[in-house]
Amino acid sequence: MHFKTIIEPFRIKTVEPIRQTTRAEREAALQKAGYNLFLLKAEDVLIDLLTDSGTGAMSSNQWAGMMQGDESYAGARSFYKFETAVREITSLKHVIPTHQGRAAERILFGAALKPGDIVPNNTHFDTTRANIEYRQAAGLDIPVAEAHQPQLDHPFKGNIDLDRLEQTIIDNPGKVPLAMITVTNNSGGGQPVSMANIRAASEICHRHGVPLFLDSCRFAENAWFIKTREEGYADKTPLAIAQEMFSYVDGATMSAKKDGMANIGGFLALNDDALAAQCKTMLILTEGFPTYGGLAGYDLEAIAVGLHEVLEEDYLRYRIRSVAYLGDKLTAAGIPIVQPPGGHAIYIDAKGMLPHIPPNEYPAWALSLVLYLEGGIRSVEIGSVMFGLQPDGSEKPSAMELVRLAFPRRMYTQSHVDYLAEVLLYVNSLKNRVRGVKIVESPNVLRHFSAILEPAHSKLIMD
Ligand code: F0G
Repeated sequence: MHFKTIIEPFRIKTVEPIRQTTRAEREAALQKAGYNLFLLKAEDVLIDLLTDSGTGAMSSNQWAGMMQGDESYAGARSFYKFETAVREITSLKHVIPTHQGRAAERILFGAALKPGDIVPNNTHFDTTRANIEYRQAAGLDIPVAEAHQPQLDHPFKGNIDLDRLEQTIIDNPGKVPLAMITVTNNSGGGQPVSMANIRAASEICHRHGVPLFLDSCRFAENAWFIKTREEGYADKTPLAIAQEMFSYVDGATMSAKKDGMANIGGFLALNDDALAAQCKTMLILTEGFPTYGGLAGYDLEAIAVGLHEVLEEDYLRYRIRSVAYLGDKLTAAGIPIVQPPGGHAIYIDAKGMLPHIPPNEYPAWALSLVLYLEGGIRSVEIGSVMFGLQPDGSEKPSAMELVRLAFPRRMYTQSHVDYLAEVLLYVNSLKNRVRGVKIVESPNVLRHFSAILEPAHSKLIMD
């Protein structure tokens, strides 16, 4: 190839306006939202990087597929298309559609866990952890040591600590009903897991009779990192790599709102017949019949097409590059981010950027508020507001204080990213004046979604 510019591998057929607001309007919106970005009206946001979940743009082929949705209650054609797409990638025997990832988690853990059990993972996502704790079991995060050093460059910081995995299983006989690996490791910075690590974790688990599950939300992005970073995979297709990843596991939970390229949906897939039967019973009770699982037939169609599109090389090359492009600009400006950039998001290291704000004044939350106030950008805190509250009600600062800028799939263009970089550089120039926040009101579970906060000092940004 002669040309080095990696372009968006699509052209735009439908546009959706986004709205500029004034700083004063954003200040008022923040106050009204209780200084919680989840409680803003989306139309008051200019660039919405709250999540890459269900927010992407669908393709013309997905929309065409939706017109072919079969809405039959049982045995719909759309289900078989969906099942075929999932099986081609995972080879897992039972494919159970769910309305999103957390429904798959709830159903799996409801069937597989008892009080006192332990579920190791590289890092549990917040809903995964919450669903485990809801069963009075414990979610154990055991990423490799490199994962805790935001600035350290390492190709597979998403890896699980294999020694601790084996030790946990040995030390807790009968109490580890399953282990998990999350690809990519979202809460740990969107970092990938190597094939060697998945393979070795699988060997350990199977030696001890413990099934291994993949939290596979971003399996295609993980496959791309394996292709570009792990020896022996450069010439393999993302599909072949994904197939190998799934070949080592006994089951998977999936949010199709990520690498399913859909606006809603997910699945639970697994090989164990008895466990699958239990899960299907639970599915009928709360989600729907096993051939639709809480989804419309047209959703199943969109996912079936999306699972193919997400593995296209042009798409993955653009996807990973557009995130790295922002990462490069921030790194050049000296803004500390989790290195190297993750697959779906840039994670700003708020502890590194705002060392003057103590953890109990939630530096990452404060930074996310300032990004909105100054530039209309919505991001999400992955720090002590999200993870600091312990099951016993005590408070423990999270290992990292991160602000995640998650990129919806196929949604924003390079000029949006240039704008983002400009805002971030501006905020960096006034970082010494940024102050922390305090929690005024919050629920006991998943508090970040609805907590009310306010500036801990007179203002968010001092004059
Ligand atoms: N696992 C991981 C790794 C996730 O990132 C998510 C969702 C889920 C499970 C749950 O899936 O939302 O479909 O129920 N993550 C979104 C995010 C919400 O913003 O990272 P869900």
